[in-house]
Amino acid sequence: MAGHHRRAAVLCGIGTWLPPRVVTNADLARQLDTSDEWIRTRTGIRERRVIDRGMSTSVLAVEAGARALKSSGSSEVDLVVVATTTPDHPCPSTAPEVAHRLGLTGVAAFDLNAVCAGFVYALATAAGHIAAGSAERVLVIGADTFTTVLNPLDRTTLAIFGDGAGAVVLRAGTPDEPGALGPFDLGADGSNADLLIVPAGGSEQRGSGEPLDPADVHFRMDGQPVFRNAVTRMSESAVKVLDRAGWRVEDVDRFACHQANARIISAVARDLAVPQERFVLNVDRVGNTVAASIPLVLADAAAAGDIEPGHRVLVTSFGAGLGWGSTVLTWPELDLG
Ligand code: UT7
Repeated sequence: MAGHHRRAAVLCGIGTWLPPRVVTNADLARQLDTSDEWIRTRTGIRERRVIDRGMSTSVLAVEAGARALKSSGSSEVDLVVVATTTPDHPCPSTAPEVAHRLGLTGVAAFDLNAVCAGFVYALATAAGHIAAGSAERVLVIGADTFTTVLNPLDRTTLAIFGDGAGAVVLRAGTPDEPGALGPFDLGADGSNADLLIVPAGGSEQRGSGEPLDPADVHFRMDGQPVFRNAVTRMSESAVKVLDRAGWRVEDVDRFACHQANARIISAVARDLAVPQERFVLNVDRVGNTVAASIPLVLADAAAAGDIEPGHRVLVTSFGAGLGWGSTVLTWPELDLG
C-alpha cells in the first residue's frame, strides 16, 4: 500500500484534570524527615496534587476525558482506552465505567497497564486500531492516583508522586497532516521488574498461601538504578524513534519527557546534546503522575504557548516494568478550552 494511503491516528482533542488539593514540599516536611530544599534540588518538584477522600482514578479520568472530547468537537468515539496502574478495582477494568459516565455506554473500553509508559503504549495501541480500520475515533486517557499505593512513611516516593489525569482524542487521518502520530518505539525489560514494585495484592501474593505482610501493599522503588535506566532508556528510545521518523535530533522543537525528576530530564538533554529549553517541564507543579504525565505536560506546555502549532514534538516515557516508549508528531491547532 502506498505511504500516502496509509491511515494515521491524528491528535484532535486534549483535556486534563487535577484534583484540587495541593500538597507542597513544606506540607510533606511537616509530617516526614524531609525538606523543601532536598526535594527541590534532588527532583525539581515544588508541589503535587493529591485526591481527597471519596475520589478515585475513574473520577479523574472522567473529568479529563470529558474535556478532551469537548476539545475534539465531538463526543463520539468507538474505543476508550484508560492507561492506569491504579484502577478503581482489581476487577473489572476502569475504562467501561469511565466510558459509561461519559455517555459512551456500549463503546469498546479497556484498561492498559504499562505504568509510566502507559500513555505512549496506549497511543500506539489506539493508533494500531485506527490503522487497522477497527476504530475511527479513540479516546485515550492516562489517569493515576498513585498516592493511594504509597507507603505513608516513605519520604522518597511521597516526595515524587502526585495524582492526575490527561486525555486525548485521536481520529483517522493521513500521515502528512498536523497531529498525525509518527512511528513508535516501544520496549520493556522485565529482568528489572523489582526496581519499582507493589509486591502484594496480585495473584503471586494471593496464591502464595503466606500471610499478607502489610508493608507489601505499598509501592517500593530503588531510586538510583531507576534514575540511570530512565536516562538511558528515554535517550535511546528517542534516537530510535527519530531514526524511524527520518528526523534529525535538531529538527525537534520540543521534547516532552515523562515527568519524574527534572534531573532525569536534564540528563536526557545532555545525552542528546539538545538545549534544555527545548524540554517542556511541569514536574515542579504536578510531580510524577504516572500514566497522566505525558498528556498533562503536553497540555500545560500548549496552554502556556511553549508548544505551538507546527512545532515538531518528540514524546518519550519510561517507568516500572521496566517499560518505555516514544513517538513524534507535528503539533496541531487544538481547542485548549
Ligand atoms: O517513573 C519512574 C519513577 N521513578 C523515577 O524516575 C525516580 C528515579 N529516581 C530518582 O529520581 C532519584 O533516585 C530520587 C529522587 C528517588 C532520589 O534521589 P537521589 O539523588 O538518587 O538520592 P539517593 O536515593 O541517593 O538518596 C540520597 C540521600 C539518602 O540519605 P543518606 O543515605 O545519604 O543518608 C536518602 O535517604 O537522600 C535521602 N533521601 C531524602 N532526604 C530528604 C531520600 N529521599 C529523601 C527525602 N528527603 N524526600
